[in-house]
Amino acid sequence: MSDRIEELRRRHAVAEAGGGEERRARQHQEGKLNARERIDLLLDEGTFEEIDKLVRHRCRDFDMQDQVIDGDGFVTGHGLIHGRPAYVFAQDFTVFGGSLSEMNAKKIVKLMDLALKTGTPVIGLNDSGGARIQEGVVSLAGYADIFLRNTLASGVVPQISAIMGPCAGGAVYSPAMTDFIFMVDKTSYMFVTGPDVIKTVTHEDVTKEALGGAATHNSTSGVAHFLAREDADCLRMIRELMTYLPQNNREDPPRRPTSDPADREDAALDSIVPAASNQPYDIKDVIRRVIDDGNFFEVQEHWARNIVIGFARMDGRPIGIVANQPAFLAGCLDIDSSTKGARFVRFCDAFNIPILTFEDVPGFLPGTAQEFGGIIRHGAKLLYAFAEATVPKITIITRKAYGGAYCVMGSKHLRTDFNFAWPTAEIAVMGADGAVNIVYRRELAAAKSPEAQQIVRKAKIEEFQERFANPFVAAEHGFVDDVIEPRLTRGRVIRALRLLETKVDTVPKKKHGNIPL
Ligand code: HXC
Repeated sequence: MSDRIEELRRRHAVAEAGGGEERRARQHQEGKLNARERIDLLLDEGTFEEIDKLVRHRCRDFDMQDQVIDGDGFVTGHGLIHGRPAYVFAQDFTVFGGSLSEMNAKKIVKLMDLALKTGTPVIGLNDSGGARIQEGVVSLAGYADIFLRNTLASGVVPQISAIMGPCAGGAVYSPAMTDFIFMVDKTSYMFVTGPDVIKTVTHEDVTKEALGGAATHNSTSGVAHFLAREDADCLRMIRELMTYLPQNNREDPPRRPTSDPADREDAALDSIVPAASNQPYDIKDVIRRVIDDGNFFEVQEHWARNIVIGFARMDGRPIGIVANQPAFLAGCLDIDSSTKGARFVRFCDAFNIPILTFEDVPGFLPGTAQEFGGIIRHGAKLLYAFAEATVPKITIITRKAYGGAYCVMGSKHLRTDFNFAWPTAEIAVMGADGAVNIVYRRELAAAKSPEAQQIVRKAKIEEFQERFANPFVAAEHGFVDDVIEPRLTRGRVIRALRLLETKVDTVPKKKHGNIPL
């Protein structure tokens, strides 16, 4: 018996040593933590229970039979985050560069199957040279087995990826199918084809960092959702994100008591929208004044900044926020902001998180780049996502709600439950200037002098503004449920959310819809 225990301990020690002291030290020199250190920081202290620590690879080519490390490099198991279970895997770069072997893939598949059966989130900490080269196609098969689980688990349990080192080739597609990607600044990168292949094929010179570093994917490509300064920061951010998420699609997200009064008024909101309609303001100021304790957990902060998305709490209950940002591109909708908003709305809808929309949108961004890039297809994603969502939906129009963008941004017509407008709201087919240019084109052309034309234009613009650039016409039609004083916004939203706790809404029975991808 004691021999067996000795053997067990020896094998555990081998697994824990990974690729050895030298390689572990190299991780630290490169500013990275090791797999087990990462798991310890991610989970509540002392809660990690490892699975498959004794697994060994079965490769017998390239002298691999002489290089066997228990656990085979991937550390897999479960533990608690803020007291709730989570499955976690971490690729250990010190063991064959964190490469994915047949057996490592089986470890992840086992974890994901358990996660699906038990309704538990999965968090993957990626730091890998990709497919284990010595194993060939069995490693590729392992990736495909994982991709299938990522797809089946999508919308059932939250899936979160942290990129904490290399992640290249087809290996990127597992994180890409998860709900959120965190990247660590300067030590992580993701790309499908690396700088060398790019140089050969397109003759472009690009560094790994410029091609697929954390900054690139957080600000240019929109592949990543969060930019962390370092490993510890990344793991802390994942823990924070988890506080907003339910365990699975059958549960509500966890509430957290707040001392922020539900009926708190904020007089500053009454004057936050500038008098001149073309003046910018920061929608995040509005968001922070309305939500619990000003705590806004922004998602994709650095990409498509004309739309702001993120998590917050109202009355202690997690909500998702989607908001046009007048301080960036005047808050217009374009390809990137539509895609960004749509994916977030769908995440919230999948996981029972109510959606609060702040609307100040002058319309869709004009230009050939947008039209040729498919703004029709991409804008339709946001429209589809809002229309499809059955979670509680509340929209506040703070200022502009123009044209098609009015319809898209959680309008009443897309079965939004409560639509409120501030007195500063302007709800119309287009801005008064544009409208006058079209409707009174002949009258303007017929004016006898530029001065006379100016007088006609000014009068007609005023007429349009008077008639349409207000919230009252929409309120008369019942398209907004009420025009509210901005200072009262928090109380109105919270009371609406309380009412909507019992909301039930459905979509017609179907295999799945055909969102314009
Ligand atoms: C086996 C690997 C490996 C791999 C690295 N190693 N990648 N072993 N399979 N894929 C080993 C190295 O031999 C080395 O072992 C150790 O890990 C560390 O690697 P280094 O090269 O010394 O580290 P570094 O200089 O930091 O470079 C990291 C790297 C580089 C950029 C990731 O190792 C690299 O380019 N690896 C190959 C990447 C790749 O082409 N993978 C296949 C991609 S295609 P020792 O013993 O010296 O410590 C793919 C397809 C997935 O993954 C398909 C899904 C559908």
